[in-house]
Amino acid sequence: METYTPQEIVKELDKYIIGQNDAKKSVAVALRNRYRRSRLPKEQQEEISPKNIIMIGPTGVGKTEIARRLAKLVQAPFVKVEATKFTEVGYVGRDVESMIRDLLEAAIRQVNDNKMKEVEHQAEQLAEERLLDILAPMPKKKTPMTNPFEMFFNNGNAPSNQNTSTSDADVQAIKDKREILKQKLRRQELEEDYIDVEVEDSNAMNDMLASMGMDDTNGNFGDMMNNFMPKKTKKRKVTVEQARKILAQQEAEKLVDFDDVKQEAITLAENHGIIFLDEIDKIAGKGSSHGPDVSREGVQRDILPIVEGSVVKTKYGNIRTDHILFIAAGAFHVAKPTDLIPELQGRFPVRVYLENLSQQDLERILREPDNSLLKQYAQLMKTEDVELVFTDDAIEQLAKIACDLNEQTENLGARRLHTILEKLLADIMYTASDYAGQQFVIDEDYVKEQLRDMIVDRDLSNFIL
Ligand SMILES: Nc1ncnc2c1ncn2[C@@H]1O[C@H](COP(=O)(O)OP(=O)(O)OP(=O)(O)O)[C@@H](O)[C@H]1O
Ligand SMILES: [Mg+2]
Repeated sequence: METYTPQEIVKELDKYIIGQNDAKKSVAVALRNRYRRSRLPKEQQEEISPKNIIMIGPTGVGKTEIARRLAKLVQAPFVKVEATKFTEVGYVGRDVESMIRDLLEAAIRQVNDNKMKEVEHQAEQLAEERLLDILAPMPKKKTPMTNPFEMFFNNGNAPSNQNTSTSDADVQAIKDKREILKQKLRRQELEEDYIDVEVEDSNAMNDMLASMGMDDTNGNFGDMMNNFMPKKTKKRKVTVEQARKILAQQEAEKLVDFDDVKQEAITLAENHGIIFLDEIDKIAGKGSSHGPDVSREGVQRDILPIVEGSVVKTKYGNIRTDHILFIAAGAFHVAKPTDLIPELQGRFPVRVYLENLSQQDLERILREPDNSLLKQYAQLMKTEDVELVFTDDAIEQLAKIACDLNEQTENLGARRLHTILEKLLADIMYTASDYAGQQFVIDEDYVKEQLRDMIVDRDLSNFIL
């Protein structure tokens, strides 16, 4: 796990998110407190529960983005859930624990990916040996194997119809051949050749389930069956280049012990997991006894034990939720945080307000972030060999239009920039290939021309963006 001071975290978040300093600080502190806790003796650790956060702010001002970037920065397993999903019609205690299972899945993927990377080099070497076994199999030996290398050559890949009485000379000939092939493989001279490799036949399983009238959408059952059933394999004809990847993947899987992965993933999710509970305001407020409202308070009560700390059963083992960090978010236009049931409020002691984005903010959002929209469009156009350039006054004008529209119609926050840029660039994106090799400059006039509907007519209610 990377460790950052709160100030460092805020500095990193500043690269992607403009303004919203209070929110950035709060999440940075919550994160640092986890690290501080992890340095205490075990007994004291148990006592300290995370200070969960509620982010309050209108749409499109960076709530989700802050949580997502934070998780990515510190490589914490992360999931985002809409609280409203639990209020959907037909909700009968729809298992809110699924968010914990999803978090664990994310952790498993993360740990597994890391472990696979660690063994990557070793797996590539093993894959090379297996390629050689396919291209020039060693004969089966009757004498006990002493050389660990040879053990490896004979790990079941050699065809069984080999004559066991191969002479030493023959063996030497094959060894020489393998050495030559190895050099060729390393010089990538055989990449295009076709060979047969043994791969897992995942279709066999799915076919069987389908024939039983079940599909594998409900993961658990499929996994359970998979564990019982012997693995089916089939031969596939592929190029050496592809085979190298397939075999390296297979070898890496053998080198990584999945029990370790599970154990590590559970610890990771328990201590570093972050769950982003979106639209929390939509489940606030007392439910009337009519319509979809009935379940609001019920959903809060369902969520409560998870946030308070409980043990959730998963197919990988039990996971404790006590120290998972929850970041809730909502606009709270109608309901207030105080409309949440008191127990839940108590579990979300930190409240931060995110501000509306001003024209200056919007302009900075266009210019500054490493992944700003303008940079994204420029990169897209570059693939067509078109250099897209925005002048300063064009950017200023765009921010102004976005801000006006937000004020005069619906406030979409930074999302407004997406709709405006799509409209602005619609023509150029349509005809980009005509400008290959050229520079396309977007200046104030072009902005005004393309977006004139929005500027000329002050009665913006005519325009639905
Ligand atoms: N302060 C900001 N700085 C940079 N980009 C921003 C900012 N606020 C929003 N954006 C961009 O706008 C888009 C929407 O932001 P985000 O998903 O964080 O909104 P939100 O606050 O979660 O809104 P909602 O309540 O609708 O979910 C994202 O592409 C994000 O990068
Ligand atoms: Mg959001």
